[in-house]
Amino acid sequence: SKTQAWSALFSEPVSALVQRYTASVGFDQRLWRADIRASLAHAEMLAAQGIISAADWAAIERGMAGIAAEIEAGRFEWKLELEDVHLNIEARLTQLVGDAGKRLHTGRSRNDQVATDVRLWLRDEIDGLQALLQQLQRALVEVAEQHVDVIMPGFTHLQVAQPVSFAHHLLAYVEMFARDAERLADVRRRTNRLPLGSAALAGTRYPLDRERVARTLGMVDEHGQPQLCLNSLDAVSDRDFALEFCAAASLCMVHLSRLSEELIIWMSQNFGFVALADRYTTGSSIMPQKKNPDVPELARGKTGRVIGHLMGLLVLMKAQPLAYNKDNQEDKEPLFDTVDTLRDTLRIFAEMIGGTPDAATGLKQGGLRVNAAAMEQAAQKGYATATDLADYLVQKGLPFRDAHECVAHAVKAASSHACGLAELPLAVLQGFHPLIEADVYDCLSLRGSLEARSTVGGTAPAQVRLQLACQRARLGLD
Ligand code: ARG
Repeated sequence: SKTQAWSALFSEPVSALVQRYTASVGFDQRLWRADIRASLAHAEMLAAQGIISAADWAAIERGMAGIAAEIEAGRFEWKLELEDVHLNIEARLTQLVGDAGKRLHTGRSRNDQVATDVRLWLRDEIDGLQALLQQLQRALVEVAEQHVDVIMPGFTHLQVAQPVSFAHHLLAYVEMFARDAERLADVRRRTNRLPLGSAALAGTRYPLDRERVARTLGMVDEHGQPQLCLNSLDAVSDRDFALEFCAAASLCMVHLSRLSEELIIWMSQNFGFVALADRYTTGSSIMPQKKNPDVPELARGKTGRVIGHLMGLLVLMKAQPLAYNKDNQEDKEPLFDTVDTLRDTLRIFAEMIGGTPDAATGLKQGGLRVNAAAMEQAAQKGYATATDLADYLVQKGLPFRDAHECVAHAVKAASSHACGLAELPLAVLQGFHPLIEADVYDCLSLRGSLEARSTVGGTAPAQVRLQLACQRARLGLD
């Protein structure tokens, strides 16, 4: 029996090893919905153009409905010898509806077919990822809202720098994820363009209506204009949309990884700033006291894997001559794994930070637990208000550089007494500069320092509340 789409030319079948080596059906079957959708759009257009008959189109539609039902029910028999998802579905269609099935591939190649399928699939995945990114941002905003007045040490070089609001710290991540969402939206625009009609590489002699297919598949811009890949050679051979996606996904994972790193540090006994619900941690088989932050650790680890996929795809493309080469089949596993990894990570982070609604009460539970006292206590160490003392002297007329030097002496003295700046008696402080007066202690307080940083985007609670209002509006939380 004929089991290969190109059989007649060949005097022998490929060996079992070559079959296994070249087949992609083991992983590309996840494209089946996109494949059927694109085939239906193509066949509908073929009929509208009079290239196939209305009866053939009806048979194809019926056959594809049957195939979709079989796949969904797990009854579809995927065959390795049929190489990939496309040939498997087409062969089954022909089994079910006969010659109409054999007419489906008129004016089409697997080259423009696979490029179309991957674009369709990725476009819909991007929409799912956007929804999850929104959920995560909302979770961060909700936790932030409850902690505007919680003071933590802000760090540079992981050394205590200046006090910041914990809400402000969380909102930094909201900004990052908002940019990730913008990048994904941009990738989506370039992904949502139609290769079909390019055929193998040069276009086709059949009078195809590519715009009709694009419309059917929703490959249109914001004005409803159909979006076509406009060069057939490029359409079948480039995978830059997948690469761009992996770049955007890598950046998003890098942001998740930085957040993971902070959660891990904040959870360590030496910080004790936050706790995760037990369901996101695991114990140790030997040390009974342990609760390890496995989820953030794995997110940090999986970021390496996603970055690796981006590198893999770049290398995959770099030396390919135009147009399609079988190398391109290797685009799928890294792309699929990138989507899966990012999806799971976003979902788990949205839950781990925001909590999940309790079945009985509907109230969210199991989200990030914050130890405000530990944060504030940590902010007391490390002279976090030293800059405020310098600013105080500047206000009294001292040039900033001189003020900086004075305060350095004050910090040195305080640390030799193992005390904070505010614990030095006024007479001692005045020894560093005669402009220092009794009101100095106001500026040395954490809260005073926080409230003073009121530039746009600064950490003063009033500013943070403005930021929160912007983010709430943007995320549709009002
Ligand atoms: N499975 C192939 C892929 O993923 C489909 C395209 C194959 N085209 C070809 N001419 N061999 O790229």
